[in-house]
Amino acid sequence: MKITVVGAGNVGATAALRIAEKQLAKEVVLIDIVEGVPQGKALDMYESGPVGLFDTSILGSNDYKDSANSDIILITAGLARKPGMTREDLLNKNAAIIREVTTQVMKYSENPIIIMVSNPLDVMTYVAHAASGLSKERVIGMAGVLDTARFRSFIAEALNVSMQDINAFVLGGHGDSMVPVVKYTNVAGIPLTELLAQDKIDAIVERTRNGGIEIVNHLKTGSAFYAPAASAVEMIEAIVKDRKRILPCTTCLEGQFGIDNVFVGVPVKLGKNGVEQILEINLDASELKALRDSAAIVEENCKAIAASIA
Ligand code: NAI
Ligand code: 2OP
Repeated sequence: MKITVVGAGNVGATAALRIAEKQLAKEVVLIDIVEGVPQGKALDMYESGPVGLFDTSILGSNDYKDSANSDIILITAGLARKPGMTREDLLNKNAAIIREVTTQVMKYSENPIIIMVSNPLDVMTYVAHAASGLSKERVIGMAGVLDTARFRSFIAEALNVSMQDINAFVLGGHGDSMVPVVKYTNVAGIPLTELLAQDKIDAIVERTRNGGIEIVNHLKTGSAFYAPAASAVEMIEAIVKDRKRILPCTTCLEGQFGIDNVFVGVPVKLGKNGVEQILEINLDASELKALRDSAAIVEENCKAIAASIA
């Protein structure tokens, strides 16, 4: 297993180290446009092997040739949000970067699985799919796992219970229109609505929607990266180990939920072939409307940049 991480910034470097520590690959390649940064970070990570107890080779590079024959490519390259910026502000700049990065990686790897992290997430997944020529099952966006991790952590905190026992789904686009699905949220099988008052649930839903900006406002110079990297690596682990995990991921819908040809977050089965199934779960009318509205925003943004990436 060879995994390339493009973008040696906060998310990319954190994910690369986590991949090595979990020994998910024999080789990890970290690529960035800035000279020296991927080389220095990769060497530093590699030198942590004797105490971090892994033997994974980690190579830093500015040359896409070093990504040759990768099984999985995690794309984290691009600009991150600063205070006052929405994910959509990143749209045009990151679309050009993602198109270029995807074209480069595809020159050297025949049929990789691409996991997108760069924002605005759902649109960048669409860009990578268009630029790669890969089947839709092999280009997957990471956002739902992160948004759901935030939702789960806030619920665990409110109930003073283990995070492990919180099962939940946040669907839709990665933005203000995301859809935390309370109906399917339970604590060790007990519906959340039996354990927490509605006003408290509403507050957690709202905090989840603003989870990204809450971190940006603290950091001031960038956005979240520990939980995003952990979330991307959870998806990679599901693929590497062919675990058939059911995780909320951004994938291209083809009529499911009444949404056609739009990349948006829904529950999928993740295994060695990427997205192996889309689970078209029953949603309440209001949740279905929220999911469709969210997909409509993604679709509009995709249309806005379609000409520039053609
Ligand atoms: P960062 O600024 O720390 O790292 C980005 C890296 O990309 C930098 O090292 C930069 O040199 C590199 N880069 C820029 N242009 C490049 C190019 N053309 N080729 C190769 N490398 C290039 O940013 P961070 O925090 O790592 O975030 C990365 C992206 O991920 C951002 O777009 C951010 O908004 C997004 N993000 C998405 C999340 C999600 O849930 N989907 C969660 C967290 C971040
Ligand atoms: C987040 O949700 C920045 O999209 C990123 O933290």
